[in-house]
Amino acid sequence: MKNLITRSPRSLRFGVLIAVIGGLATAVISWQQVAGERRTGLDDLERRAGVLAHRVSPTALQALDLPDDQVASAMADRLEGHSRLIGLAVCRPDGRVVASGPGVPEFEPAMREAVQQAVAQSGEAGSLTRGPGGPTHLFAVPLADPGQPARGVLVVLHDTVYLDDRLTRGMLRGAMWTVGVTALLLLFTAGGSWAMFERPLHKLAAWMRRLRFGNMQEAPPRGLAVSRLADESEHLAASFRASRQRERVEAEDTLRSERAWTRERLRAHAIDALRGQQLVVVSNREPYMHQMRDGRPQLVMPASGLVTALDPVLRACGGLWVAHGAGDADKQTANASGCIAVPPSDPRYTLRRVWISKDEEQGYYYGFSNEGLWPLCHLTHERPLFRASDWDHYVRANRRFADAVLEEIGNENAVVMVQDYQLALVPGMLKEKRPDLRVGIFWHIPWPNAEAFRICPYRVEILHGMLGADLIGFHLQQHCNNFLDTVDRMVEARLDWDRFAADLKGHTAVVRPFPISVQAWSEKDVATGDVLAEHIDLLKQQHGLTTPGLRIGVGVDRIDYTKGIAERFRAVDRFFDKHPEHRGRFTFVQLGAPSRTHIPRYRDLVNELEAMADAINWKYPSENGDWKPIRLLVDHHDAQTVHAFMQAAEVCIVSSLHDGMNLVAKEYVAAKGAAGEGEPGVLILSEFAGAARDLPEALIINPYDTEEFAAAINTAIVMDPKEKRQRMTRMRVRVEGNNIYRWAADFLGALAHTKDKPERAVVDRT
Ligand code: G6P
Repeated sequence: MKNLITRSPRSLRFGVLIAVIGGLATAVISWQQVAGERRTGLDDLERRAGVLAHRVSPTALQALDLPDDQVASAMADRLEGHSRLIGLAVCRPDGRVVASGPGVPEFEPAMREAVQQAVAQSGEAGSLTRGPGGPTHLFAVPLADPGQPARGVLVVLHDTVYLDDRLTRGMLRGAMWTVGVTALLLLFTAGGSWAMFERPLHKLAAWMRRLRFGNMQEAPPRGLAVSRLADESEHLAASFRASRQRERVEAEDTLRSERAWTRERLRAHAIDALRGQQLVVVSNREPYMHQMRDGRPQLVMPASGLVTALDPVLRACGGLWVAHGAGDADKQTANASGCIAVPPSDPRYTLRRVWISKDEEQGYYYGFSNEGLWPLCHLTHERPLFRASDWDHYVRANRRFADAVLEEIGNENAVVMVQDYQLALVPGMLKEKRPDLRVGIFWHIPWPNAEAFRICPYRVEILHGMLGADLIGFHLQQHCNNFLDTVDRMVEARLDWDRFAADLKGHTAVVRPFPISVQAWSEKDVATGDVLAEHIDLLKQQHGLTTPGLRIGVGVDRIDYTKGIAERFRAVDRFFDKHPEHRGRFTFVQLGAPSRTHIPRYRDLVNELEAMADAINWKYPSENGDWKPIRLLVDHHDAQTVHAFMQAAEVCIVSSLHDGMNLVAKEYVAAKGAAGEGEPGVLILSEFAGAARDLPEALIINPYDTEEFAAAINTAIVMDPKEKRQRMTRMRVRVEGNNIYRWAADFLGALAHTKDKPERAVVDRT
């Protein structure tokens, strides 16, 4: 009950308090009223009894002169009762009844007391007694000659049942008033204070939260009861918008005025920021993997946003990359300590491969990282699985990565950039052994809200591990907010919301957004001009895309349920359904790299997508050569192929159900913007991918809304080429300005500027 009350909304608690006070007051007033009425009734009765007694007294006085047995006949019928009057009795001073009305003798004992009282006080005496018929009022009047002692007593008896009935009715009425008043007070005070205060304040809090999380255009909620508060929130919103606007303008100005961030510029910046220390990147996924193909090790660049982003950084800065050697030919291509200079064709940095047993890989990588943390952080309705044995492997594998870093660094100083959710414990492990190291961690996937993260049984350990870092980076401010909020609720850390920092056991971790990006395609040695055109022709031949005038849409993803590929196919199906004029003229090509296929959900997804593509292709048969609505190409596609398809495609679809950033969206913009080659393109982009914040000129869709999604595909295809170019140009300027070198420079710069001791006093929120 206590719990129920303390957990109820404030307005309800306030309503209950007021209603209880009001109800009690009504009950007291009603009771007093009823008691007063009863007193008045008794006074009335006594007055009537007095009048009657005085009227009968002279006759009774005369009758008392007679012997006892004649008194009754002398009184004749004057002692009889009627209606509420039970009757009268004439008594001797000793209490003996000498004459009485018919129902009166039953009250003899009570009458005797009344007579004694009247004689003793030589005056009238009223009293109540309980007779056989219910409560009865006795009124005794001494009968005496003036100045003489009483010769007898006249007793008047009234039935007072009607007074009790009146009392009961009065009490009932009072109870009904009490209940009614309590209920009305509860309704009006709880409802009124909810409508006037609590609801507007909740709305205000929700609005402030949205304002903080980036929705800047929304006006403050209406109906705030305190006009001052309404004014202040208007001002708050205005100054927030103004400062954000200023920030954006300044950022755009800086972008325009600044020299572009290039490999060389990052290198110079890194030398400055690192101050002679070695740069170390640690990630699970390695940038260069060797796989046995046809009996020979073949070099593969894994499909990973993280690899796409960080390989150019290390190529620019040099240093060490520590990662899991997952390829089956990795051992034989590395030296005895697992090191290999990469890229093998033009070495720029060292890759140190960490060896992990199959069991460990199962528990740490497939289990805890990808069946636990991955679905936990991506809100896609996939249930996370947490097994104690997976967690043990996760801890052990993290230790292995940390040890490899420490071994490589030796006694030197270093700046370590730990990557992603597979290695959350590494910052804490590194700092435990080497507090002097400068350590940052970048979380490439979303960070959910605290309530969602709460379900992880190892949440405290993970947060402690991450808080070992000096700098914690996310793609979006929203993820930073969610993270700090999670820390606030789940760990005993002191938070400084002004600096966006958390202090745990004297160590400060700063939390910042760093929206990641891509490098220019030209740096990846992809084909251009005629060579590119030939490559595109070849791909079209290979994949049945030779229908004359065929327009192409493309999607490039790891086959992962977070990418919304099934939703994409559904939208393509709906698009052909609604727009039969495009049948035979448009094909959607999905490049899908198989990923994490040891996990049943991922394996099933490949089959599911193949079946979906088959069903859709079957539904719209070709009247036109080898046309198909969808071409699903499940394979690891190299950069040349991805680039060629992006250049050939008029539309690129990124429909993630939830994504930290999604670099495919930026790669498409970079491909289309670069040389202006090929068809002008339109990007269709999910509102749930972090990239949607950086690329608002894309056609933003909700991938769950098939109708809207299908309509966007049609809009993209029929869009005026001038508009396509305008949108793409604006996006390109942003992607080129905020490229991966700038991201790395910002991260390294921020990491170099983190201090061990907080500069300002922090607010204790533990
Ligand atoms: C995401 C993660 C990366 C991961 C990549 C590929 O981008 O943030 O950490 O490397 O997916 O996944 P995989 O499991 O193949 O490394």
